Amino acid sequence: MEKIVIRGGIPLKGSVTVSGSKNAALPLMCASLLSRDEMTFHKVPALRDIRTTKQLLLQLGVQLDDFTPGTLRIKAREIIDHTAPYELVKTMRASVMVLGPLMAREGRADVSLPGGCAIGARPIDQHLKGLEAMGASIELQNGYIQARANRLEGADFTFDLKTVTGTENLIMAAALAKGTTVLRNCAIEPEITELAGVINRMGGCIVGAGTDTIVIEGKDRLQGIVHEIMPDRIEAGTFIMAACITRGDITVSECEPEHLAALLEKLEEAGLKVETSERQVRVISNGRVKSRNIETNPYPGFATDFQAQYMALMALGDSDCYITENVFENRYMHVQELVRMGARIRVSGRVAKVQGVKELSGAHVQATDLRASASLILAGLSAKGVTEIHRVYHLDRGYEHLEEKLANLGADVRREKDDML
Ligand code: EPU
Repeated sequence: MEKIVIRGGIPLKGSVTVSGSKNAALPLMCASLLSRDEMTFHKVPALRDIRTTKQLLLQLGVQLDDFTPGTLRIKAREIIDHTAPYELVKTMRASVMVLGPLMAREGRADVSLPGGCAIGARPIDQHLKGLEAMGASIELQNGYIQARANRLEGADFTFDLKTVTGTENLIMAAALAKGTTVLRNCAIEPEITELAGVINRMGGCIVGAGTDTIVIEGKDRLQGIVHEIMPDRIEAGTFIMAACITRGDITVSECEPEHLAALLEKLEEAGLKVETSERQVRVISNGRVKSRNIETNPYPGFATDFQAQYMALMALGDSDCYITENVFENRYMHVQELVRMGARIRVSGRVAKVQGVKELSGAHVQATDLRASASLILAGLSAKGVTEIHRVYHLDRGYEHLEEKLANLGADVRREKDDML
């Protein structure tokens, strides 16, 4: 195992380029199953979740070719297996996104139920209800969802709640279904709009992505295209908060400022100077951050994927504030680790009260999930002394070349072999 060692207290300065989005790339890789032709993706980030998805696609019989870094070619001429096995789904829930395309193209899929994960129970009942509405029969056998259909048929389906991968799964299912599907109460995250745009360029017919009602006219076949993955808004926001917590001055380039609106608005309230231009955000932090409440909500609200990093920032706030996690019921695994670094945080149900302290101190801490790990990195960058973050494999799921990028901004950060765990 490996650990990340940070000597904190250095203000970040300079510029950083955002990588391609993990949460856009994963559904797009699954959408390759919808066509027998070759799909080419550029700006595919080098991340563990991407490698897991490649493994899954290979197992289904798909041809993969990634000889140049960042470019991935996927050709699903034949599909020889229909199973997303437990070993892969347990390491990455997003594996359930093969369910929609497999059902659309093959009329069968065996996908392991994800079970609990570090950030809550996260059921997939909405994905399954939607497929049933489209004519699929769903059974549970030995921990696997067995979905079957002759050909999926268009349906009018209303989600009980906003779900990102649920919306993506049903868009992909409907893209090759017979007739027209109307999906209501859809999530409207930018990654969903990206997926719909790609399927449209493949020859699909999807209207309304980015609003809560999406209409999909199913096609008999879709063709291969070349596509560049959109920038990772969560990575961009994480760097912005890293600049804020270290009282730095950085420019985040090749990002989409519009996708960061809720975060930037809150950080400006907290005292950060923000300058946006096309595909670029400069942030300048001079003094102690002001404590400001947030509550997480589906897009365009304040993203749950920023909650942990924002909490690290508020741990150093000038007074008290409340953070409310509305999207996941158990996404406070980072709290105890931040407390070990001197933060004063008390959680009661969905609400965390954060009492700002003047400084955090370096400590040994343990990463528990991807964004929790990012919050510990931020805390470490600002803390007095040395912080050692163990179990960093969580970080490698979602942040490409993180230490290199931080080091380029002046941080004292390195990765080392971990003998402790
Ligand atoms: N939910 C249900 N039933 C369902 C689906 C979802 O009850 O059938 C609940 C979940 O338990 C959760 C809420 O609905 O309480 C929202 O979950 P959602 O389905 O939107 O989450 P997701 O699609 O599994 C994606 C991202 C997450 C991000 C969330 C929320 C991908 C691959 N993952 O997950 O990203 O936190 O949306 O924005 O797109 C991350 O990148 O660190 C990450 C966890």
